[in-house]
Amino acid sequence: MSRGGITSGFIVSLLGTLLLPGCAGVSVAPTDNGTQYVLSYAENQKEEYPTTRGAQYFASKVEEKTNGKVKINIFPEAQLGDETSTIEQLTFGGIDFTRVSLATLTDYSEEAVVLMMPYLYRDRDHMWRVLDGGIGDEVMTSFEGSGIVPLSWYDAGVRSFYTVQRVDSLAGMKGLSIRVQPSALMEDTIRALGADPVPVEFENVYSALQTGEVDGAENNWSSYEAMDHYNVAPYYMEDEHTRIPELQIMSESTREKLPEEYLAVIDECAKDSAEYERRLWQEQEDAAKEKVLSSGCSEIKISSSEKEKFKEAVEPLYEQYCAGHMDLVNDIRETE
Ligand code: GCU
Repeated sequence: MSRGGITSGFIVSLLGTLLLPGCAGVSVAPTDNGTQYVLSYAENQKEEYPTTRGAQYFASKVEEKTNGKVKINIFPEAQLGDETSTIEQLTFGGIDFTRVSLATLTDYSEEAVVLMMPYLYRDRDHMWRVLDGGIGDEVMTSFEGSGIVPLSWYDAGVRSFYTVQRVDSLAGMKGLSIRVQPSALMEDTIRALGADPVPVEFENVYSALQTGEVDGAENNWSSYEAMDHYNVAPYYMEDEHTRIPELQIMSESTREKLPEEYLAVIDECAKDSAEYERRLWQEQEDAAKEKVLSSGCSEIKISSSEKEKFKEAVEPLYEQYCAGHMDLVNDIRETE
C-alpha cells in the first residue's frame, strides 16, 4: 500500500470521516464558558484491548484536566480505517490521534525501523530500558517534519508465529505463506526464514487464515486471542522473533490549532496513559494465553538451539536495514 496513493482503507476512512460525528479533525465549538475542542482518536483494536483502554484513560484524564474543554472521541475496531490510512489522515489533520504499531510508521522515520529489528531486545525489561531512556526520545524526535508528533510508547509484547498446520522448527517454515503487516522489514524477515510473506491489514487476517489465503501469521498472545485467530490457526510456536513497540501519536496540524496549555495537558496524560497500558498489558497477555490454551490450542516451545537458528537466519537483515544506524543498534544491545 503506497503512502501517497488512494487505498481502499483510505476510502473506508473517508466514509468514516463523513459519517461519524467528531472525527473530521479538530472541531471547535463555542460554549457558555469558552471554546470546546472535540478531537478524534483512531484505534484498530477492540474496546476491551489494553491499547484501547489506554486510549480511554487518556481521553478521560484530558477531559478532566481541561474541565471538559478538550473532548477526545475514541473510534476502536478500525472504524476510521486500517493503520496505514489512519496515519495518512493524521498527517494532514483528518484524524487527531491514533495508536499504531511501529511497523506501520517506518516510512516516516529511518530510525524507527531499528526499534523493531528481529531479536533486538533480550526481553521485555530490556526493551523498556531502551525506550524509556534517551534512545526512545531520539527516535521520537526523528519524526520531526513528518506531520506526526509521537506522544508515548505503548506495550505490544512479543510476537511469534501461529499456523493452521503444526510447525515446530525453522525447517517447518519453508514455503509457508505467512501474513505480515505492511512493512518491508517484516516481508524480508519472512523471506529470510524461508517462507513467503503476504501483506494483509490486521482486520483481514482472520479471513485470510480461514480461507487458506495464508498458512499462518504472527502476533502477540493478546491479538491472537482478541481477533479469534486461535480458532483458525491453533498452533502457536514461541519463537519470539520480534518485539514491535507501539506509538501513540498526534497530528502536528492539530497541535497548531490548540492552545499551549492544553498541549501540555495532552502530553502529560499521554505519558500517564502509557504507564497505565503497560500495567494492563502483562495481566491481559497472561489471561489471553490462558484462554486460548484452555480452548485446546497448542503452545509449541522451541529449544534455545532451535531459536538460535531463527536468529542466525535474520541476522543479515541488520546490514540491509540498519547500515546507517549501527551505532544505535550497538547502543541498544549494550543497554543494560
Ligand atoms: C498488533 C498491534 C496492531 C497491529 C497488529 C498487526 O497487535 O496492536 O495495532 O495492527 O499488531 O499485526 O497488524
